[in-house]
Amino acid sequence: MGSARIQRKLWSWYSRSYDGLLDLVPYQRLLATTTEALACGPDDRLVDLGCGTGNLLARVAAAAGPGAHLVGVDSSAAMLGMARPKLRGTDRAELVESDLLPWLAAAPSASFDRVVSVNVLYTLDAAQRAQFWSGAVRLLRPGGRLVVVTTDRAGFGPVVREHLAERSVRSSLRPRLLAVLGLNLAIWALEARKVFDPAPLDVLVDECRRAGGRVLRTERCYGGETDGVDVLLVAELAQVDLRTATDAAPAGGTDADGVPYADSPPTTPTPTVG
Ligand SMILES: C[S@@+](CC[C@H](N)C(=O)[O-])C[C@H]1O[C@@H](n2cnc3c(N)ncnc32)[C@H](O)[C@@H]1O
Repeated sequence: MGSARIQRKLWSWYSRSYDGLLDLVPYQRLLATTTEALACGPDDRLVDLGCGTGNLLARVAAAAGPGAHLVGVDSSAAMLGMARPKLRGTDRAELVESDLLPWLAAAPSASFDRVVSVNVLYTLDAAQRAQFWSGAVRLLRPGGRLVVVTTDRAGFGPVVREHLAERSVRSSLRPRLLAVLGLNLAIWALEARKVFDPAPLDVLVDECRRAGGRVLRTERCYGGETDGVDVLLVAELAQVDLRTATDAAPAGGTDADGVPYADSPPTTPTPTVG
């Protein structure tokens, strides 16, 4: 079976027990940390790329208030089916069944204040990630924020340990939580077979900069600040020289930290505007 087909089947199966994750302390913490990093305002437009069963969208809706315009994009109809009831009380929420890459390619530039994606990027290969970063950065309005959370390490041990530091084994023996643990073992097995091949944090940071993003901060999470299996990256639009800007990196340019874009030849930085 091809990798894309395996992935589609996996998300469809996973949708039925996915919300068992809500019983897991590190997942709740991950949702809280991501919502906080987004700081979505009451009138902001936000898109969640690979929104799954809508847990983050529901949290953001509660935090931002009814005026926020929220869009969730996911390729799995089964996942979106679980998301829909959670967003019923939200005035301006929209769920779109689509692969995120063509959706990103078709979306207008500078059309969102917040762009977020949680635990989806590791399912993309390097070429797809390049499309992801350039599309996600292109969507941002000036002053907007991109928050990406993704795994860069195989394994689920640190997540289980973080959970058991606060909950007893006995209270954790719930069927839906055990089902989720089983599915995470399956994802781990797929990583071992390179169906999923997570990129390390330094590669992700470099990819984001090449796409014209300025990385504001990164932190390790989902299993603790040291051992966590996920990284959270917060970025904004880098200042770019509008005369040389391309869809990818501005030629010969640097990001706002003065770091040369990886594709750039080593030249004197050009003046920046805006
Ligand atoms: C591990 S789940 C994460 C769900 C959600 N973001 C969360 O953190 O709870 C991965 C989700 O990404 C979706 N997904 C994977 N590849 C995708 C793609 N290329 N386009 C759109 N959605 C995708 C899957 O259908 C699934 O719902």
